[in-house]
Amino acid sequence: MGLKRSGISAAACILLFPRFLLTAVMLWLLDFLCIRKKMLVMPTAEEAAGASEGPPPDDPPVCVSDSNRMFTLESLKAVWHGQKLDFFKSAHVGSLAPNPEVIQLDGQKRSFQRLAAHFVDIADFLLVYIEEAHPSDGWVSSDAAYNIPKHQCLQDRLRAAQLMREGAPDCPLAVDTMDNASSAAYGAYFERLYIIQEEKVMYQGGRGPEGYKISELRSWLDQYKTRLQSPSTVVIQV
Ligand SMILES: *[C@@H]1O[C@H](CO)[C@@H](O)[C@H](O)[C@H]1NC(C)=O
Repeated sequence: MGLKRSGISAAACILLFPRFLLTAVMLWLLDFLCIRKKMLVMPTAEEAAGASEGPPPDDPPVCVSDSNRMFTLESLKAVWHGQKLDFFKSAHVGSLAPNPEVIQLDGQKRSFQRLAAHFVDIADFLLVYIEEAHPSDGWVSSDAAYNIPKHQCLQDRLRAAQLMREGAPDCPLAVDTMDNASSAAYGAYFERLYIIQEEKVMYQGGRGPEGYKISELRSWLDQYKTRLQSPSTVVIQV
């Protein structure tokens, strides 16, 4: 068993390594400011002003105003952790949706909330808060909205989740358990979107931040709604 397990880990490491290396090189390149400016375009003042007219886009471009170094031991550890979780997750499109325990709060991001309000008649929305992507004692980012150290206990996690609720007060919010079962089952770290129907995974978003696309969720739900509204079978009685 032990042997088998280490065999699996070794195979996973070999499979995972090229992707990890690619991300590591990208982070290293992003430490050259000229490259960072070219790759991560900041919205201009005009665009920012124009955006206030209509509703903002579901998926604004990934924008890093972080001036910290990106290529650090902590960032590499975080990337490796996320890619490993992604590799070993049990959630796959078409497969049974894992149903790990979460901690409910009595009572959550803006475009997610807009979407939830729009589709409230056809879907139930749930945010599950997992471990921090940028804890203040880990991969520190000046883009992180809050100063949250790694959760040492459930109380820490529940307290941090309250801050998330302020961003989306009307959306049901639950919290991953301290064994991080939901994050592992869904490969959710750093952030991820799923659609589950009748216990099956119907949509699996990419890993955030770059794969986190609320617009994909929206188009899936739009198509689903259209299907619901158009009678698919017409019975003609003679
Ligand atoms: C779960 O995540 C926390 C960070 O929030 C970490 O301290 C803890 O060790 C993780 N637990 C397991 C079982 O990996």
